[in-house]
Amino acid sequence: MALLPILCYPDPKLHTVARPVQSVDGRIQALIADMLETMYDANGIGLAATQVNVHERLIVIDVSEQRNEPMVLINPEITWVSPEKQVNDEGCLSVPGIYDGVERATAIKVSALDGSGQSRTIEAEGLLAVCIQHEMDHLMGKVFVEYLSPLKRNRIKTKMLKKR
Ligand code: NI
Repeated sequence: MALLPILCYPDPKLHTVARPVQSVDGRIQALIADMLETMYDANGIGLAATQVNVHERLIVIDVSEQRNEPMVLINPEITWVSPEKQVNDEGCLSVPGIYDGVERATAIKVSALDGSGQSRTIEAEGLLAVCIQHEMDHLMGKVFVEYLSPLKRNRIKTKMLKKR
C-alpha cells in the first residue's frame, strides 16, 4: 500500500471527466487500498480517484465515527434524489482549509459496484448523502467551490496559489 499525492485546487486536472471502470481487477483493488490509506491518513471522509489523478469512476468513503466502515463505490449512478434540499458546510482534501455551504439533496439512492465487483444499491441520507454527491461531482470534474459565487471562488483560488 502507498500514500498517493492529492491534487490541489486549482489544478486543471481536477476538471477531468472520469471514464467508467472496465473491470474490478487487481489493479483496481490495489488502487482502492491506496485510496483508503490516503483518505484515512489525510483525515478525510471521502476521496475520488480524480483527486489522485486517476480518471476512472471510483470513490472511497468512510463517514463513521470510528473510521472503520470503508465504503467503495465503482461506476456509481444516482437513481433517485429527494426533492428536499439542504445547505451544509463542505470541505475537500483538494481545497485544504476551506469550508463553505453547498446545497444538496438530503437523501439519494445510488447504484454502484462494491470493492469486489458486486452490484449494490445504497440508500443514503445526511452526511453520507452529502459525501456521495460531493465525491461523484469530482468524477465529473467538478470541485465544490464551483457552487460558490465567482468572488468567493477567486478568493479561494488566490489563497490556494499563494500556499503552493
Ligand atoms: Ni472533495
